[in-house]
Amino acid sequence: MTRRLHDRHRAVLPDWLALYYKQPVEITHGEGRHVWDADGNKYLDFFGGILTTMTAHALPEVTKAVAEQAGRIIHTSTLYLNRQMVELAERIAQLSGIPDARVFFTTSGTEANDTALLLATAYRNSNQILAMRNSYHGRSFSAVGITGNHAWSPTSLSPLQTLYVHGGVRSRGPYAHLGDSQFIEACVADLEDLLGHTRNVAALIAEPIQGVGGFTSPPDGLYAAFREVLDRHGILWITDEVQTGWGRTGDHFWGWQAHERSGPPDLLTFAKGIGNGMSIGGVVARAEVMNCLDSNSISTFGGSPVTMAAGLANLTYLLEHDLQGNARRVGGLLIERLRAICAQLPVVREVRGRGLMAGIELVRPGTDEANPEAAAAVLEAAREGGLLIGKGGGHDTSVLRVAPPLTLTVAEAEEGAAILERALHTV
Ligand SMILES: Cc1ncc(COP(=O)(O)O)c(C=O)c1O
Repeated sequence: MTRRLHDRHRAVLPDWLALYYKQPVEITHGEGRHVWDADGNKYLDFFGGILTTMTAHALPEVTKAVAEQAGRIIHTSTLYLNRQMVELAERIAQLSGIPDARVFFTTSGTEANDTALLLATAYRNSNQILAMRNSYHGRSFSAVGITGNHAWSPTSLSPLQTLYVHGGVRSRGPYAHLGDSQFIEACVADLEDLLGHTRNVAALIAEPIQGVGGFTSPPDGLYAAFREVLDRHGILWITDEVQTGWGRTGDHFWGWQAHERSGPPDLLTFAKGIGNGMSIGGVVARAEVMNCLDSNSISTFGGSPVTMAAGLANLTYLLEHDLQGNARRVGGLLIERLRAICAQLPVVREVRGRGLMAGIELVRPGTDEANPEAAAAVLEAAREGGLLIGKGGGHDTSVLRVAPPLTLTVAEAEEGAAILERALHTV
């Protein structure tokens, strides 16, 4: 049955819409941290539909909020007052750490970043953007123009002039051999040098931990050091929290807080987890930046009542159950366990990450060369063992990505790690 659906998928959907697995999975339902496929197989879900099922599958609080709101009214548009939208905006504005914050809701991370770019370029009257090498920010024409990972950037045509900065990848590249503080100094010197060749840059956009890029990050404090340079030039800082937001990293509620000394960013974008699968994205900016547009702008579906009801219920659950704390505790155990499993495996170059965001980089044994075949094989073997994980990394997709819902229990972390251990041993 799944096979026929696969043929129909291939016949009618774009070739570039990649599917995982030689025999792709049709997921039909889920509960907690588990999902089931159309053939009745049960899986532990350590990828949450790309870090989007943030709390749990079929979380009763969210499902109820969606059903109740859908029963009342599904759509009104932003032309009318929307209580849920105002409430969620108030809560996000307060949580963002940005003073005098305004929130604009979109339907995806791409559209959130596109809005942030529109705001920053309009505010600064410039189309020059700094982005990080190996970054991913979405699929629109503007977003691919700031994506420093060519596997995800299908055109070099762009409305923006983008300059790529070094520092998002700690353990590869020209500064990898340096200690943390020298690494930061070298990246700052590189940024200063780059800015010496520019006229009027609008903003720097960065993921605190690169998601699609393979869960890579700079040493804590890099963006604080960058911020000092940016401030001297009046350049805005946009933090893309689409993967790192809402406590997933355990240590912090937002990824930018690992660079706390910097103070809050000028703009913050979010999406994925806040709706637990309902399409919510958005951008937060201080009022002066948010209000710099002198034309009207709307997103027809952005902030729709059903998605906002889901977001409010999901955020309430997240905060009331301290899921950030759970990500820190259970994620910490999981990463330790993965490190122990991988310590003796020559195919593993590095286990990295924070909270419930762990990456395992695979190489050809005895070299530093990426090993995408091994990553694909482990993904298949994990699935056969009953575990769904993800892949990512650079241009070669050789990093296993582990990012379960934030309600993960210690027993489930142990179970998933054991399945992954067996899968890694098959390669
Ligand atoms: C860091 C980051 N920004 C933006 C996006 C784009 O979000 P969306 O797919 O919702 O458009 C993604 C998606 O993976 C992402 O990881």
